Amino acid sequence: KRRIGVLTSGGDAPGMNGAVRAVVRMALAQGCEAYAVYEGYEGLVQGGDMIREMGWEDVRGFLSEGGTLIGSARCAAFRARPGRLQAANNMVLRGIDALVIIGGDGSLTGADIFRREWPGLIQELVETGVRKEEEVAPFQHLNIVGMVGSIDNDMSSTDATIGCYSSLHRICEMVDYIDATAQSHQRAFVVEVMGRHCGWLALMAGVSCGADFIFIPESPPPEDWEHLMCGRVENNRKRGKRKTIVIVAEGSQDRNLNKITTAMVKDVLTNRSHLDTRITTLGHVQRGGQACAYDRMLSTLQGAEAVKAVLEATPETPSPVICIIENKIVRRNLVDAVEATQRVSKHIAEKNFEEAMKGRDAEFLE
Ligand code: F6P
Repeated sequence: KRRIGVLTSGGDAPGMNGAVRAVVRMALAQGCEAYAVYEGYEGLVQGGDMIREMGWEDVRGFLSEGGTLIGSARCAAFRARPGRLQAANNMVLRGIDALVIIGGDGSLTGADIFRREWPGLIQELVETGVRKEEEVAPFQHLNIVGMVGSIDNDMSSTDATIGCYSSLHRICEMVDYIDATAQSHQRAFVVEVMGRHCGWLALMAGVSCGADFIFIPESPPPEDWEHLMCGRVENNRKRGKRKTIVIVAEGSQDRNLNKITTAMVKDVLTNRSHLDTRITTLGHVQRGGQACAYDRMLSTLQGAEAVKAVLEATPETPSPVICIIENKIVRRNLVDAVEATQRVSKHIAEKNFEEAMKGRDAEFLE
């Protein structure tokens, strides 16, 4: 019986549990055994009861739960070869030679390194007498399949990452709450949203909430943004709008890569437009909580596809990442997807904003 492991790594995201559930149940439905690795790569390195066999009932109720019920951790040990050697040993001990990793680009890069090193790691286990030749013989190749779980929607090659729509939904709900108090006092609110170096959450929240102005890292505002922003805000007020909402992505910066902070934006609205202004940093409410319907659907369909990808893999197949493109669940080359994602950060660092926007695969960023 084929044994498939599943783990969640990096920041949690709503929908990760749905993905674990789908991988476990699809694996069982295909006649495989399913194993959950607790606490991300940490569980792989530690082994023992951090790697647990999962039955159909073990994932009951997972679909709607936020966060990740099997835990996630930033694991320094796995970043070094000795940690990965230990992980390989634990996997051989449990007879697991396929892993579905649910995480962001960093976690998926780590997974592919592990796969490439695998034959060498197995050989080392034998050479150092940790495992016998016959023990490792059935485990010559490691299959890795990636699934992207992140609220940031920052991975190239997929239209949506698992979690991003739950987070967007939460942000909209929070801005609606803010709206009520803002209107009552005719105030301005500067709302900071997450996203790391990616402006997707801020941009989509701004569109969905009818914000007056939006700051995102990929498309910094022109140098005279203070003038531009206040002009728009004041115009909207003249038209009868009783509130002002400015959304600032946490990674926002100007064209010289100087950080644009919520405090700076507040000062401008206060001093130039004479608005009574407050700052709200939404923080981790954007990440926790129930998964929305889209994330439940996405994680379930992708989890099933991930198991199919494991079963169809040959030693030559490059590691795939499961994506959604134009509403189709598809496989893409994991390394290419990670490289494309990292190219966007490079473009931003080089102030090549036009290319950075193209790299986000988001035509509406224009
Ligand atoms: O990647 C998800 C994310 O929530 C980002 O949006 C944010 O910048 C970061 O993680 C926060 O990380 P932490 O929870 O470690 O503070």
